[in-house]
Amino acid sequence: MDKIKIIGGNTLHGKICISGAKNAALPLICASLLTDEPVIIKNVPLLSDITFLNGLLKYLGMDISEKQEIFVQHQSTKYTYQANQITNLVAPYDFVRKMRASYYVLGPLLARFKHVEFSLPGGCAIGARPIDIHLSSLEQMGAKIEIKNGYVIADAPNGLTGAHIIFSKASVGATCNILMAATLASGITKIENAAKEPEIANLIDLLNAMGAKIEGKNTSVLTIEGVEKLHNAEISVISDRIEAGSYAIAAAITHGKIELVNACADFLQQPIRVLEKMGVDVSVDDNSIIVDAVNKTIVGEDIYTDYYPGFPTDLQAQFMALMTVAEGASLVTESIWENRFMHVPELCRMGANINIHGHASAIVRGVKKLSGAPVMATDLRASFALVLAGLAAEGETIVNRVYHLDRGYEKLEEKLKAVGADIERIKESD
Ligand code: UD1
Repeated sequence: MDKIKIIGGNTLHGKICISGAKNAALPLICASLLTDEPVIIKNVPLLSDITFLNGLLKYLGMDISEKQEIFVQHQSTKYTYQANQITNLVAPYDFVRKMRASYYVLGPLLARFKHVEFSLPGGCAIGARPIDIHLSSLEQMGAKIEIKNGYVIADAPNGLTGAHIIFSKASVGATCNILMAATLASGITKIENAAKEPEIANLIDLLNAMGAKIEGKNTSVLTIEGVEKLHNAEISVISDRIEAGSYAIAAAITHGKIELVNACADFLQQPIRVLEKMGVDVSVDDNSIIVDAVNKTIVGEDIYTDYYPGFPTDLQAQFMALMTVAEGASLVTESIWENRFMHVPELCRMGANINIHGHASAIVRGVKKLSGAPVMATDLRASFALVLAGLAAEGETIVNRVYHLDRGYEKLEEKLKAVGADIERIKESD
């Protein structure tokens, strides 16, 4: 397995171009299952999660073509998806276990083909991750659902029908899935307590461009009037707010200055507020965010993760890395996932002073310096937190299990090297 080697201590300066958002691209790609006409998706990041999803879609019978192009100063991929020969309605365990977000095929396949079989994903490092809200909502829309041999088998022989659905939690995945399913249901679906993440607005824009009738974008009440058929459309993936937030901390933790090109400050209001309270200067331009921590004293600050527009759970680990070297104490409360402090013991091995209280709170007391060590993480964002700690630490850090990073950070070493980091990938065979 590849590793990443970092020699810490360099101050980072320069520009990093932010890629398209993984979590926006995944549902956009699956929305192409809703029509037999071509759907073009631009600014798709080159990530293993996208490769896995494309593999699953090809298995179902999707025609996929790709073209490299420049999108806002960086190289990206434009994909054309055409679902005019779907021959398979089964998403097998081998695909789903590699990438949970394969559950995005559920809603579209059931809505368009009236049947789907989907391997239950099971838990993962950050928590149990049930899909009960997805399934009960589809049942409210008339689907018959059975769980057999680890698979969800869903049928809607007469098609789905609109329903008034109130989510028990503002789930991102369930909002996307039910939105997609409702576009082809008969009648009106109303979703209350829907998630409001920017990735959902991106999906609504695509679905409406395909002929769907969705109202309530950016609010927690979405109304979808079902239509007979959807058609071809084109969309660009929005910029990745979590990648942007992660590199903002790379500037802060190394007392450097980085311009995040193609980053959207609107999507990052809470993280920017926290960075400013920690002593970092953040200025916002039309299409970029400049993070300046040169000669700044970083101080501790508390965070509480919450549904958007609250502080994103996907930036919790990275902010915790910054807190480990801040002056004073910080309190981190994780309210979304029940097991999202797996990076804590690894940060402590690098000299951090962190105490976990229960499973939702951690107190971080800043230390003067971290020291490099071999470390590993069990999920994507935690792995990036260790990269950040390595950038600030004295000496060499080896981050193992790089495949987590490859799921969500496009060209990670290239981007960090370009701003002055001493970082390299050690290939398995080296
Ligand atoms: C998405 C993101 C993930 C992020 C999370 C929260 C993708 C591919 N992943 O995950 O990076 O951390 O949003 O912002 O976009 N829940 C249930 N039952 C369900 C569904 C969810 O109880 O049927 C719970 C979950 O256990 C969790 C909370 O709801 O506690 C939020 O989960 P959800 O928003 O669905 O997360 P994902 O869409 O899986």
